[in-house]
Amino acid sequence: CIVRHYKFNVVMKNTTRLCATKPIVTINGKFPGPTLYAREGDTVLVKVVNHVKYNVSIHWHGIRQLQTGWADGPAYITQCPIQPGQNYIYNFTITGQRGTLLWHAHILWLRATVYGAIVVLPKRGVPYPFPKPHKEVVMILGEWWKSDVEAVINEATKSGFAPNVSDAHTINGYPGPLSSCSSKSSSKDGYTLKVKAGKTYMLRIINAALNEELFFKIAKHRLTVVEVDATYVKPFKTNTIVISPGQTTNVLLTADRTLGNYLVSVSPFMDSPIAVDNITATATVHYSGTLTTSPTTLITHPPQNATPVATNFTDALRSLNSKLYPANVPLTVDHSLLFTVSLGINPCLTCPNGNKVVADINNVSFVMPTTALLQAHFFNISGVFTDDFPGNPPVAFNYTGAPPTSLQTTNGTRLYRLSYNSTVQVVLQDTGIIAPENHPIHLHGFNFFVVGTGLGNYNPKKDPKKFNLVDPVERNTVGVPTGGWTAIRFRADNPGVWFMHCHLEVHTTWGLKMAFVVDNGKGPNESLLPPPRDLPTC
Ligand code: C2O
Repeated sequence: CIVRHYKFNVVMKNTTRLCATKPIVTINGKFPGPTLYAREGDTVLVKVVNHVKYNVSIHWHGIRQLQTGWADGPAYITQCPIQPGQNYIYNFTITGQRGTLLWHAHILWLRATVYGAIVVLPKRGVPYPFPKPHKEVVMILGEWWKSDVEAVINEATKSGFAPNVSDAHTINGYPGPLSSCSSKSSSKDGYTLKVKAGKTYMLRIINAALNEELFFKIAKHRLTVVEVDATYVKPFKTNTIVISPGQTTNVLLTADRTLGNYLVSVSPFMDSPIAVDNITATATVHYSGTLTTSPTTLITHPPQNATPVATNFTDALRSLNSKLYPANVPLTVDHSLLFTVSLGINPCLTCPNGNKVVADINNVSFVMPTTALLQAHFFNISGVFTDDFPGNPPVAFNYTGAPPTSLQTTNGTRLYRLSYNSTVQVVLQDTGIIAPENHPIHLHGFNFFVVGTGLGNYNPKKDPKKFNLVDPVERNTVGVPTGGWTAIRFRADNPGVWFMHCHLEVHTTWGLKMAFVVDNGKGPNESLLPPPRDLPTC
């Protein structure tokens, strides 16, 4: 068994983008942060030392954390934050997973600058289920604000209205050669992937943006999708990929041109945009032997509201479901849940959430506790949470009809309890109250199968008949379509407390989050391990 040691120093670093310099929170002074490499089966120890004035915690997004919820990272869910001057060692073993994931800060909006890639290689000697690429590279996508991110958070929380969209998107930290402030439009302003004609490259694409779903494409090249969220898929070719915050996609790029520089473009996707955002990040694919380094090709990226492009892409995703990598879809369901996912302005002026934007799941706007939920669960501390989260919407209305007059949200730290190894189906129904918008919903601690999706109201009689229980895509973050629904299934085989939330950070801030508590099983290896001794206290 191999143990890999990492040290993450949380430090401020002056960073220049868009012709302006500002101090940002980083890991080891790097933006994006360091890539964490491991193999399936390895144990990873990351010592995080907090040298900044903010509370910090780091989440290993998509790592299952079997029995080690203490290392999952969301602040106040599985741990108290690492306070200034303190440190904490995240200790986990990567079991039954290989592929690309990401790590990011998981407290307020710190993940705007504190994020990086996780590359989990297959066990030594185990090949990929596709031809070995000549080279592999990470392309991590993000957002950049000229102003201080703290100011942006305050805008969203205090005013209760949408914060400004970011000033740039980034690829490996850079807006790229076509950004408004690139002085000479030279490739120095962005990331360049150097390729040799005829070779195939694997791009590990990660969406680490705070609030934007993104399109990704490369001029005059097609991409073969082979993996999403660290699970293999049936390979398919596409011009454009769509990727939500928290998602990862591995694609093969064959350098099938002879010479030239080709633009890589990343542009926002939003089904019904409230604010226009056409900011495009770019990078360059440079063929060896080409004399210049500036991209000469033009690229047309999909319009911001190109929903059909997004739908075509997500509809094509299927689990590989091979002998070695079977899709173990739960065929029976112990807990059948219907969760409404909504966002709106509560018109009731005297209500606790009156006249500001609130977001909720099943009419509960989640309130962050001041003690970590996992500690409260493990040590039986009462008064921190209740386990009465509604399994069905308490307030019925027509999800596609006129907006209800009141959101009728309640506030609470309510969890849904699952017994060990029970099977769970959650239908996530977007209720599109003010502005219809996709919600990339992320579940910690599990991969789930996306067994069905549709527009309009979910029909519990008809829709399950069309579910794919054979080779549905398996992932940890799924986009719930605007004015539609998505059905997921998973087996509750991981004891602990597991956060589920919209991965658009602004929606999480407004309350679009909840958590499951999974009890211990009776067998060996079916219990949450005791907390590590250095677990931070609140
Ligand atoms: Cu990537 Cu709870 O988040």
